[in-house]
Amino acid sequence: MPFRPLPKSFTDQLSQLNSDTEAVLELGSGEGHFMALVEAQGKHCLGLDLRHPVTGAVCNLVGDARRAPIRPGTVRLLVAANLVRHVLPRHKLGEHVAHWRSLLKSGGMLFIFEDEPSQSSAGVRNFKDLQAFLAQLMPEARGPLLSQEKFRHLVGAPTVPEGWTFGFQRNEETINASEVMRFLSAGDGAAEGGVAKLIRAIGRDGLDPGQYWWAQVGPIQSEG
Ligand SMILES: C[S@@+](CC[C@H](N)C(=O)[O-])C[C@H]1O[C@@H](n2cnc3c(N)ncnc32)[C@H](O)[C@@H]1O
Repeated sequence: MPFRPLPKSFTDQLSQLNSDTEAVLELGSGEGHFMALVEAQGKHCLGLDLRHPVTGAVCNLVGDARRAPIRPGTVRLLVAANLVRHVLPRHKLGEHVAHWRSLLKSGGMLFIFEDEPSQSSAGVRNFKDLQAFLAQLMPEARGPLLSQEKFRHLVGAPTVPEGWTFGFQRNEETINASEVMRFLSAGDGAAEGGVAKLIRAIGRDGLDPGQYWWAQVGPIQSEG
């Protein structure tokens, strides 16, 4: 699901890209929603995804972001949006983020965007429960949402995030709750149990993505 609007810290970086010679690189580009947000700002975005375009993915490169087939020190603006929830196992996330930082050229930036699960309104709780349900359905492909706080621990920046900048932003994207309820109703467990409870809760209180968090960091500095 898109993150709308994009934070100013990101659009500021985007505006500095030369549209003729530079492009954003997005890891885990999926169906191209984030790429479309970048293109709407008049900049180019290249995508890398595990899935091939014949499966509906919108990407220029097929590959695993955990060992991206990109030359280190070459990327100006690198994005992982809605990706870290898919990167398993979680305890290795710090290593993968270090790999992504190694791809950046001097002055380059990595941005990570994720939905924030530590919120308590009814619609947001439904959204979080939906993400947890999807993670249970496909445990080999995704985990539940990761809070900014937990992410900071995983990348070793819990209290003094040297070189990192973090923020939150309200996501104004709307979700079609009826469509999600139809999808959930088609499954086996729809008549009773946890799924039925989730469908009823969505019918009553809707689905709200709430806030998302973003993290920004530059290239790994070489020592010496
Ligand atoms: C929820 S979609 C996000 C799509 C897009 N980033 C957006 O925000 O609209 C996650 C995508 O990440 C891809 N993905 C998951 N693990 C990956 C990995 N290790 N390397 C590359 N892509 C991966 C999936 O195939 C899926 O298309």
